[in-house]
Amino acid sequence: MTAAVLVVGSANADLVVATDRRPAGGETVLGGDTQILPGGKGANTAVAAARLGADVALIGAVGDDAHGRLLLDSLRDSGVATDRVRVVDRPTGAAYITVTPDGENSILVSPGANHALTPSDAADPAGARVLVASLEVPLDVVEHAIACAAGAGVRTVLNLSPTAKLSRETLQNLDVLVVNEHEAAWLLEAGDHDGAHGGDYGSGDHGSDAGRLLDLGPRAVVITRGPEGALVATRDEQAGIDQVEVPSPQVTAVDTTGAGDAFTGALVTWLASGATVADAARRAVDVAAVSVTKRGAQPSYPLLDELS
Ligand code: RIB
Ligand code: NA
Repeated sequence: MTAAVLVVGSANADLVVATDRRPAGGETVLGGDTQILPGGKGANTAVAAARLGADVALIGAVGDDAHGRLLLDSLRDSGVATDRVRVVDRPTGAAYITVTPDGENSILVSPGANHALTPSDAADPAGARVLVASLEVPLDVVEHAIACAAGAGVRTVLNLSPTAKLSRETLQNLDVLVVNEHEAAWLLEAGDHDGAHGGDYGSGDHGSDAGRLLDLGPRAVVITRGPEGALVATRDEQAGIDQVEVPSPQVTAVDTTGAGDAFTGALVTWLASGATVADAARRAVDVAAVSVTKRGAQPSYPLLDELS
């Protein structure tokens, strides 16, 4: 089966507890009831895209357990093809999430089944228009998926979350790199990246962070900035670097968990239907803004007709 959007990434059960504050080391704090919600950066991205009407498949892995069934149900209910989600002999990935009253979260991930994925699982882009990856699955899986997709002429998008040292080849194989401001800063400071920084890195004639990220190889860079929206930078052979600021609608955040995945899922949905990166980012900030007004990751993602 061919899906227009092929997602390579994790599926986690999110074990969410609301708390007034986070415990310090050695301290015990009482929080609210545990909620078990479908999450994981790959599954979140796939569900966000499918809810917006994209034809989506996920390449991933879950365990043969209740959390795995929760994930498969959420994916299928949203219309994501799951024939490339393997059921493996490890526990489904879990994310231990605390949410404070300001909507901020902190997350500890136990990758479990996600780390049973192998490069061969992700070698076939199978006629997709866009392949999108994130990094709660092994780096070699992501790098192989991107290399195979690029070799097959499939557009490649990477959400560098969580951060990982990418090879120069991977950075150069990317059509769109999506990072938040922390990930952007990390990438710019992360050292050699297998030589990717090379040459006159840091002394180029375009001093902006986005410009310096473009120097690493991707054709476009999207920096997400939470309530401030996003910055899109592309390289134009004639005009040099083109930067577009995309403002976000102002909303009251109750839970920012998975907002970046909602953004990425929306971005690839519109990229797969032929939009420019800037136009896709304009739709994506709206989707991410809706997602932060509701609790959870996947349960908070809008359907296309719920967008204004
Ligand atoms: O990006 C949000 C996701 O990160 C959560 O759903 C959680 O599973 C963690 O992986
Ligand atoms: Na949310």
